Amino acid sequence: RTTLRWMWRATYLSLLAAVGAVIYDGYLDRHPEEQFAPDPEKKTLVVLGTGWGSVALLKKLDTANYNVVVISPRNYFLFTPLLPSCTTGNIEHRSIMEPVRQILRHKKAAVKFYEAEATKIDTARKVIKIHDNSDVKGNINETEVPYDMLVIGVGAENATFGIPGVRENSCFLKEIRDAQAIRTKIMDCVETAAFKDQEQSEVDRLLHMVVVGGGPTGVEFAGELRDFFDEDIQKLIPDIAHRFKVTLIEALPNVLPMFSKQLIDYTESTFKEEHIEIKTKTMVKKVTDKTVEAEVTGPDGKKSTITIPYGLLVWATGNAVRPLIKDLMAQIPAQKESRRGLAVNEYLVVQGAKDIWAVGDCAVAGYAPTAQVASQEGAFLARLFNNMAKTEALEEKVRDLSASLNLKPGNTAEAAKEIEDTEKQLRRIKDIKPFHYSHQGSLAYIGSEKAVADVAWLNGNVASGGKLTYLFWRSAYLSMCFSTRNRVLVALDWVKAKVYGRDVSRE
Ligand code: FAD
Ligand code: NAI
Repeated sequence: RTTLRWMWRATYLSLLAAVGAVIYDGYLDRHPEEQFAPDPEKKTLVVLGTGWGSVALLKKLDTANYNVVVISPRNYFLFTPLLPSCTTGNIEHRSIMEPVRQILRHKKAAVKFYEAEATKIDTARKVIKIHDNSDVKGNINETEVPYDMLVIGVGAENATFGIPGVRENSCFLKEIRDAQAIRTKIMDCVETAAFKDQEQSEVDRLLHMVVVGGGPTGVEFAGELRDFFDEDIQKLIPDIAHRFKVTLIEALPNVLPMFSKQLIDYTESTFKEEHIEIKTKTMVKKVTDKTVEAEVTGPDGKKSTITIPYGLLVWATGNAVRPLIKDLMAQIPAQKESRRGLAVNEYLVVQGAKDIWAVGDCAVAGYAPTAQVASQEGAFLARLFNNMAKTEALEEKVRDLSASLNLKPGNTAEAAKEIEDTEKQLRRIKDIKPFHYSHQGSLAYIGSEKAVADVAWLNGNVASGGKLTYLFWRSAYLSMCFSTRNRVLVALDWVKAKVYGRDVSRE
């Protein structure tokens, strides 16, 4: 009984400590320390984008060393791993957004932020053309920003491979507004299918949710969608229960190519149980407002064309290079051979360019376009720039000491020793190792409270799938959320959806 009492006390105290920590964190968030203005003598470091790469850089960068300017059409950071959960209302979109001004307000020296899209990088003049593409515009909505150093972290856009009808008829899943559009469209399809006297064939079409692309985005979305239907929609609208259908179309022979064979098989069998149809070796060639046309490769290698009617079409076939990056690549002869983005060296310097670095999905450094890679690259650049600033300060010190030595030859030994120490320090700082990516593993949610994980463990790999992995998935993503505020909001959303169900009202 005494042990039990102590256990209660310990639980109570740790809960109290957790609540205290959350409140204290909130207080710090709302009462940041006084910032000082950046020194105009320092170099201007311009950062494009507020995604994984750029924000990881900003988080670790000592902003006192540069005049830092951030430019992005999005004034927030988006925690993309939980974006598929926003499409069904399992998580509310604001829970995975962190205002960039909140992040920047906590830096030592003030940072300028412009909500704008960079439309051109002029490497010859070292300026960036920016455009305010928001709904509200002032008299000036286009201007130029000069840079001494530039970090490009603009990510990528959705790949459509020029397939006719994709842009006009599909929903994508990259940004918050995409998730909101999907959420609205799911409920629109459902309510239209439940419309009085709706024809049966039309009900079937409207309730057919087609996902193109069997990468992690497509798989996670299909799983979330099936959960939404099974746990909420069909309870509220039972008449349409048996007509709801999810189909995942993939051009390759299997889904989730980056996972181990065992987890691919596990995902495919779980989808079978969840009644999600997977059509592999099926390449979409054309999209109309109500149908998808695809070429299927049969077991004998013969090709045939099928037409699939749909109500909602979500297009998740990976990344394409943004126009800004294509334009920059065209200006640099060394980028001629690069196809998937800006080729960078092992220090993430854009090859063939001066004073330009690139991180994340817009850079080609030999790694997959993931948040993990982008954030490690951003953190690497922060270390590099902090070191570069220290190096410059130390070099200046050496110069000053040498000059004073020449002026006042009296205390030579002492000054020479100081120069030697500073030079030693300088060598240590200058010896920055190239960027090295450390893969922590891959995780994906596959529906029915199951997830798959390929996790790096003791120089090897552990593959697991199921409900326990789902708990691991949840705790891993909760801990990776940007701020305590995000963590609290996401956890509350999960509890809310479990207790009250997802909100099916159409916005
Ligand atoms: P982004 O995070 O895309 O940020 C790009 C930034 O640049 C944005 O702020 C954008 O507004 C801005 N921008 C765009 N154009 C311009 C311009 N012209 N001028 C200035 N700024 C511009 N990866 C994982 O490792 N694990 C996951 O679980 C995972 N889940 C994902 C789920 C989904 C639904 C998606 C879509 C992706 C997921 N990813 C995941 C991949 C991951 O999100 C990307 O690899 C990552 O976002 C890349 O970071 P980035 O900084 O290069 O670009
Ligand atoms: P992806 O590039 O990983 O997968 C796209 C899939 O679409 C490919 O398998 C491709 O064969 C298929 N495809 C292309 N054209 C097609 C067509 N016409 N018809 C049918 N299928 C077609 O793209 P995704 O899933 O958007 O991921 C992008 C990046 O983000 C990847 O690097 C991924 O690892 C990362 N990511 C990671 C997640 C995680 O770790 N949980 C979640 C989501 C994304």
